[in-house]
Formats: sequence, structure tokens, C-alpha cells
Amino acid sequence: MNIDVTSAPVISYATSALIIGCFENARDEIFTSCDRALEGYLDRLFTGKQFRGKPGSTHLVHTLGKLPAERLLLVGLGKKEELTAERVRQAAGSSAQALRSARIASFASALHLAGDIATAIEATCEGALLGSYSFDQYKTKDKEERFQFEAMILLVPEKNRLPEARTSVERSQAICRGVSLARDLVSHPGNVATTGYLAAAAHELASRCALSCLVLETDYLEELGMNALLAVGKGSVEPPRLIVLEYHGAGERDRPTVLVGKGITFDTGGISLKPGPGMEAMKTDMAGAAAVMGTIEAAAALKLPVNLVGIIPTAENMPGSKAYKPGDVITSMSGLTIEITNTDAEGRLVLCDALNYAVANYKPAAMIDLATLTGACVVALGHEASGLMGSDRRLIEDLKRASERSGERIWEMPLWDEYGEAMKSDIADLKNAASSREGGHITAAWFLKQFVGKTRWAHLDIAGTAWVDKSRPYLPKGATGVGVRLLIEYLRGK
Ligand code: BES
Ligand code: MN
Ligand code: ZN
Repeated sequence: MNIDVTSAPVISYATSALIIGCFENARDEIFTSCDRALEGYLDRLFTGKQFRGKPGSTHLVHTLGKLPAERLLLVGLGKKEELTAERVRQAAGSSAQALRSARIASFASALHLAGDIATAIEATCEGALLGSYSFDQYKTKDKEERFQFEAMILLVPEKNRLPEARTSVERSQAICRGVSLARDLVSHPGNVATTGYLAAAAHELASRCALSCLVLETDYLEELGMNALLAVGKGSVEPPRLIVLEYHGAGERDRPTVLVGKGITFDTGGISLKPGPGMEAMKTDMAGAAAVMGTIEAAAALKLPVNLVGIIPTAENMPGSKAYKPGDVITSMSGLTIEITNTDAEGRLVLCDALNYAVANYKPAAMIDLATLTGACVVALGHEASGLMGSDRRLIEDLKRASERSGERIWEMPLWDEYGEAMKSDIADLKNAASSREGGHITAAWFLKQFVGKTRWAHLDIAGTAWVDKSRPYLPKGATGVGVRLLIEYLRGK
């Protein structure tokens, strides 16, 4: 979808649909002038309770020639005093979904005129771009009839604010392209998005955004002793890989922020096979990797003044005669030995070598990993928030602030040493899975912590937030691209 800005007055702008934001308890100038043109029709909608301005609600009105805009799309903003950027983002997302149902491909918006204009423009663009996303590359029927958005025009009343508005639009477009990349990667099925596909996508991204990209293949992983990553990949014909992307936006000597993303292209559970029903969802087990790639793409497009390294350990977790098994003991790159008690706890294994690689090769100023790591995190938080754990108070608080601003919810969980008791093995230094499921997201994070040394580190468990079965205002059902907006906001705030 194209986005443009123009300084035409709202009331005289000709378009097939004009979005206007409406409060539950207040009416602004735009509402009043549209209402006047429609001879009080909007007011009657309120008194008849057909539309009340509730957050997320929309109502499409034909103007029957009484306004240059053919239709008005009213979208609820809730109470005026409760207006936030997130409300605007959600309103824009709901609008996009309503326009899609009405098959209106080009439209104009006055929604961003509620609230502070720069913030509101970004929120409107983000909501509209993210809410209009769809993934139908694998649908072959009725291609011509398939709906596609064309253009959104933002109406900015003051001509002298157009340049500023354009900058905000470009910023949101850059961020949303990153989110879309992440969503696309997660949406592709496991037979397409293999470890080789992720490596090729990383190379493609690197040449498009002038990044450096290195893909470590089996031989080299063996030389480095990344046996935990190698073990997970053993059962699959798709070789495991370690993908390293670097973006240089700051001085040579600036220590980088390292992002590590779990890249299991499909998680069958391995020999500790998962039950059949719902297993197809495990194509999303590389959402951490997707978030890292999307974030780097957006950071490069925004030319953020930071050094960033993205590290993606990728493998397919399969059963088979070569697969790793319960009872195996492996020596990770760090030297710590791990008894395998459950081959379905594979994410922490690929991550532990990646975290160790990052610490050994970069002096990270901070390190953040993202992983669809545990079902336990979904039990704890549902689909409303990602789990946050880590070793550094300041990093955790910075991430929480970025969460507030981006609308990507995260929730901190404790990471006390006592949780580690469950991860002690009789035969090796650690075991990869506790014998009980209790606090499973925390014992998993505790395991990761053993590999980060003194590095400032935070872990985001995105198992519940990477994919939604029910649409949200700007998260159409399916892949959410979670992590990208949060991390960009975090990096911007530094
Ligand atoms: N990829 C799964 C976690 C997951 C669950 C992601 C639901 C998305 C939605 C992970 O590899 C896994 O299987 N974790 C196990 C760990 C257990 C064996 C200790 C789990 O959570 O059951
Ligand atoms: Mn698993
Ligand atoms: Zn997994």
C-alpha cells in the first residue's frame, strides 16, 4: 500500500472513503463539520447507539453526494482523555480490516488528526500497514479477484507540516517493511522456509541493505565445537547453520548490540515426538530468527546510529536414525556438558551455542535473544504478552519502556538461582529439560543464562505472541512479526 500526504482540507477532499476518528465523549471539529454536511446523520448514529465511538468499533456511512468523500469510515477512539498512540494504531488497524471487507482499496485518513500529529501519523501508518497485511502467496485460485490495498492519503491541514509528516510516513514504512519480512518468513511453511532458505534470505537482505552476512556451515560448526546446535540438526536432511548479520551504523569502536533469534524451521519434537494435533503450528518455531532479520532490515533502513549483530542458529528438529536421543550427552561450544532428557527442548540447545558464539566473538554492549521457547510461557501469559527475563536490570527496564511505546507487550518473570536446581544432571553439568513442567519458561531461561557470562542479557519468550489464531486490530490472524517494533523502539531510545 502506497502512502502519501497532502495539505487539502478534510471536508472538501474527494476520495472513495475518508476515515475519521470519533471519541465516545467528545466531538472534534472534523466530526462536527461532517455531521453538518450530512444533516445531523452522524449525531443520530450516536443517539441511536448504532455507533458510539468505542475503541476498535467502525461504521461505514455513504455520504450520498453530500460530501466530496463518497463514504465516511467512522472509527472509535474511546474516551478522549484516554487517547494513546496505541489506541490510534488500533483504530487504524481496525479501519484497514473494515476497508478490506468493503473492498475499498484507496482511501484517505483524518484519523491522525486526533492527538499529537507526529506520533499520530506514525501510529496511523503503522496500524494501517500492519492491519492491511495478508499472506496469500500459496493461493492460486481467483488471483484477479483477490483484494489488494492501493493507497492511503493522509490529510495534513497545515502545508508547512508536510515535510515533517512525510518523514514520519517514511519511518513507519521502514519499520513495517521489517515487520512484514518477519511475518512472511514465519508464514512460509517448513518445506519452503528451510535452513538454506533462511541463509539465502539473509544474504539477500545483506545485499539489499549493505550489511555483512556470514553463514557458518556444518564443517565450520564442527571445528568451532557447536555440538549443541549440530545435535539438534542431526535428524534432518537440512543441515543446521549459523547465520551472522552485521549492521554498522556507529563508529568502529562502538560495542554492538547483539540480537539472537531461535531459527528452528520446524519442530517435530524429534525422538521425543510432539503429539499430532496442532503440530503444523511448529513452522513458526523460527519466529525469533524472523524478528532478528526484520529488526536489522528496519534498523538499516532507518539508518539508526548503532552497531547491530544478528545471530541466527537454525536447524530442523526431526526424528530419524541419525537424530540425537534422550540420554545423549553433548559438549556445547562453551565446554559445558549437557545431558539430553528431552529432544523437544531443542531451542535452548541451538541458542546456547549461539549465545556463547556471540560472547566469544563480539563484546556485546547488550545481548537480547528472542525465541518461541516454551509452552509454559503460553500457559503463563497467553497470547497477550511475551515473557521477559534477564541478567541486567537496566536492559530489562529499557525494554519495558520500549514495550510501552511500541504497544508490544512484555512481562517480566523472575530468574532466581533456585530455579536452576531443576536443571542439574547426574551425569553432566546440566540437563536440557527439567523433569517437571513447573515454571518451564523460567527454567529454560535459567539454562540460557549459563551461557552468557557477564554480558548484559535479556531473553524474550515469544511462544505465545509470534502467531495469533484470532485477529487483533492491527494483527490480522497468523504471523505477528512480534519483536521488530519493540526492538526498533529499544534501539531508537538508546
Ligand atoms: N517450540 C517449542 C515451544 C512452543 C510451544 C512454541 C508452543 C510455540 C508454541 C519448544 O521447542 C518446546 O517444544 N518446548 C517444550 C520444552 C519442554 C520439553 C521442556 C515445551 O514447552 O513443552
Ligand atoms: Mn521443541
Ligand atoms: Zn521449538
